[in-house]
Amino acid sequence: MNKPVRIAVTGCAGNIGYALLFRIAAGDMLGPDQPVILHLLEVTPALKALEGVSMELRDCAFPLLADIVATDDPAVGFKDADYAILVGARPRGPGMERKDLLEANGAIFTVQGKALNDHASRGVKVLVVGNPANTNALIAMRSAPDLDPRQFTAMMRLDHNRAISQLAAKTGSTVPAIRRMTVWGNHSSTQYPDISHTLVDGRPAPELVDQAWLETDFIPTVQQRGAAIIAARGASSAASAASAAIDHMRTWALGTADGDWVSMGIPSDGSYGIPEGIIYSYPVTCRDGRYEIVQNLPVSAFSRARMDATARELLEEREAVQHLL
Ligand code: NAD
Ligand code: LMR
Repeated sequence: MNKPVRIAVTGCAGNIGYALLFRIAAGDMLGPDQPVILHLLEVTPALKALEGVSMELRDCAFPLLADIVATDDPAVGFKDADYAILVGARPRGPGMERKDLLEANGAIFTVQGKALNDHASRGVKVLVVGNPANTNALIAMRSAPDLDPRQFTAMMRLDHNRAISQLAAKTGSTVPAIRRMTVWGNHSSTQYPDISHTLVDGRPAPELVDQAWLETDFIPTVQQRGAAIIAARGASSAASAASAAIDHMRTWALGTADGDWVSMGIPSDGSYGIPEGIIYSYPVTCRDGRYEIVQNLPVSAFSRARMDATARELLEEREAVQHLL
């Protein structure tokens, strides 16, 4: 058995938290040989509910769950954290765009970025889930000047998984048969799910589906999936979001499969002509706990327009939170 690692999760009394913590403790995130100490962070009024979550976690008698720290103090919650999953934030309701949450949620991430800067392990890997995830990750990153910007990521894996699932259904294929899916840009309705380089059972996906389906079905379905879940469930996605967070962290820590890549929101380094500094989703491979952008993919005019549109939205969001940066 390895030495336990500390995993901090915020928003633990919320919907995603309830779907996430038990799977982490069961070993789904870091595997069956990695004990974990869970740091559960909530706001003060939710501490009673958090106590209930802690009790249930203990009642599962998970062999990998070495300890629990439950707190409303970010300094305690992020102390020595090796991983931090920032979920705690307001979800949107029907008729809202995720960026409408910037005002309500943005300030949370200055406080948490600073606390990570001051208290987390120097190698902490941070995933922002709370919406609008990319710009919240930017706020947290900019609030943590002593950490490497590459330690801050935003969740695009739910969009990536949604895109894979849609394509598998359309082509009568299976999820494991699909490789090299890409979702570019923002976790918003401007995101660009791109199958240009995707393989289905080793065959190029663009040969298997027509352009009309891509434009009128696949792309809008993936872009609008969050809103469709809210309309159907009356609440935003929770179990699928938790599952994607686990996928994101597992891939980042343990690596991508040979010949495959995933989509992660990361600080743009200017690759593919995207402005530097915004948190933009790129295709990445992961190895030894580090990610690298997949370079030199040909970009069609169709893709270029969509990649730029979602970058423009991220620049606008950055402008709107300039006072928090
Ligand atoms: P929820 O309302 O059920 O739970 C949120 C929890 O966060 C609450 O318990 C609240 O008390 C807590 N919280 C609020 N501020 C906090 C703070 N400063 N520190 C610690 N905890 C805090 O919401 P949910 O359904 O769990 O969703 C959480 C967030 O995740 C929302 O912003 C939602 O839009 C977002 N989300 C993102 C994705 C994605 O793909 N990036 C997917 C689904 C949901
Ligand atoms: C999602 O994509 O399901 C989440 O970001 C929730 C939302 O507001 O759409």
